[in-house]
Parts: sequence; C-alpha cells; structure tokens
Amino acid sequence: MRFSRLTLAAVFVLSVATVALFAGRTAVFAAAHAPATSAAASQEPPPPPSPSPSGPGGPGGPPPGFKPPAPTNLKVLPRNLTGEQVHEIMEKWEGELGTGCKTCHTVDRKNIGPDGKPGLNFADDSKEEKQTARKMVEMVDSINANYIAKIDSSGDPVTCGTCHRGHLGPEPFVPKPRKDDHEHPAAP
Ligand code: HEC
Ligand code: HEC
Repeated sequence: MRFSRLTLAAVFVLSVATVALFAGRTAVFAAAHAPATSAAASQEPPPPPSPSPSGPGGPGGPPPGFKPPAPTNLKVLPRNLTGEQVHEIMEKWEGELGTGCKTCHTVDRKNIGPDGKPGLNFADDSKEEKQTARKMVEMVDSINANYIAKIDSSGDPVTCGTCHRGHLGPEPFVPKPRKDDHEHPAAP
C-alpha cells in the first residue's frame, strides 16, 4: 500500500517534470530531441506520423502520396522516428539554415528519378556538412538539457534557427550604433 502510493507519487513527479520540460516545445522538437532511452521518451511517445501529403510537395518535391521510408542510419536523432518524422525535422532544418537537402546529402548518380534528375542518398555519410550537423544536434541537445532547462526561461528551447537565422554560416552579430552611446556633449 505504502509502496504503491510512493510509486504513484514518483510517477506524478516525473510526469510533471516531463510536461514542464516539454512545455512550449513543438511536437517535432520533442520527438527530435528527447533521448530515445530516457524516461521522458517512454512517457511521451513521439507524436503519430502526420498524414501523407495529399498534394505535390512543391517543385522537385516528392510525388503525391509519397511515404518516406523508415530511416536506416540515424546516429543522433532518436532511432525510432518514422520516415515522416525525419522529413519534418529535415524540412525544419532546411528553413532554419536557409539551405536545401543537397547541402548535407550526397547526390546519387545511380538513382535517376522520373524527372531525369539524380536523387539523393540520404543514408550516406560522406558529406562533411552532414557530420557537422550531427555535432550541432548534440550541441543543441546539450545546451537545452544542461543550461536552458535549468534557468527560469520562456520555455522556448534553443534551435538551429536561434543561431543560424536562415543562413548556413551564422552571420556575425553587429549591434546597431546607439545614439546616446559614446557621445561627449559639449561642455556648457
Ligand atoms: C544541415 C544538414 C541537413 C540538411 C539541410 C538536411 N539533412 Fe537530412 N540528415 C542530416 C543528418 C545529420 C542526418 C542524420 C541524423 C542522425 O544521424 O541522427 C539526416 C538524415 C536524413 C534522412 C534519414 C536517412 C537514413 O536512412 O538514416 C533522410 C531521409 C533525410 N535526412 C532527408 C532530408 C531531406 C529530404 C532534406 C531536405 C528537405 C534534408 N534531409 C536536409 C542532415 C541534413
Ligand atoms: C549556438 C549557436 C548554434 C546553434 C544553436 C546551431 N549552430 Fe550550426 N553552426 C554554428 C556556428 C558558429 C557554425 C560555424 C560557422 C562558421 O564556420 O563560421 C555552425 C556551422 C554549422 C554547419 C556547417 C556550415 C558550413 O558552412 O559548412 C552546419 C551544417 C550546421 N551548423 C548545422 C546546424 C544544425 C542542423 C543545427 C540545429 C540542430 C545548428 N547548426 C545549430 C552555430 C550554431
């Protein structure tokens, strides 16, 4: 009796912590960044895959009804993500870095699509940018888990876009000159 009440209390505390941890984050973010083995991941399973796109995915995009295959070579994202979930994350990165899939994924000359253009070999690891992106994922996970989660913050996590802001290489920040700075008013 006492034991089960304790267990209940522990589960409650854990769920509250989980909810607090993920409050304000998007489902994609939680799926992408919850370590696959943590208690959080087992309590909050990844969101169900979004329905297959009913229309064409834009110019050069996948054909209608295309269902992305399950990933085979994930090393930093949770390995249980579905093909759709991986695609959602990739499209987010595309926007946050202002770049396309080809920046990180190798062109596969042996795989010519119906449009006569070669496809990409997504599982291949030969592009340096893909390796860098993996390091970035680990860095972002660490920043959120070890620093942002420990401060009284808005709950908005750090994302690729926090630094990249639509550029592959984050631009150096140059503050606007302030009018009231460094002004030496004339002596009266
Ligand atoms: C900034 C680099 C980057 C961009 C841009 C990018 N990807 Fe990825 N992609 C990665 C990395 C890194 C992985 C592997 C993640 C891991 O190891 O957990 C990956 C994995 C994948 C996988 C899973 C491959 C497998 O079988 O394991 C697919 C599919 C994929 N990306 C598709 C895309 C598509 C489609 C786009 C464009 C919309 C895209 N990616 C844009 C870096 C990128
Ligand atoms: C804390 C800031 C920060 C965050 C957050 C961040 N990055 Fe970066 N990223 C950088 C910096 C700084 C560089 C190095 C730019 C340079 O070479 O001058 C970089 C470089 C990269 C590069 C290599 C660019 C190139 O020119 O080859 C890739 C790819 C990349 N980041 C992907 C990502 C992805 C994907 C995420 C999110 C998972 C991410 N970054 C999050 C700061 C950040």
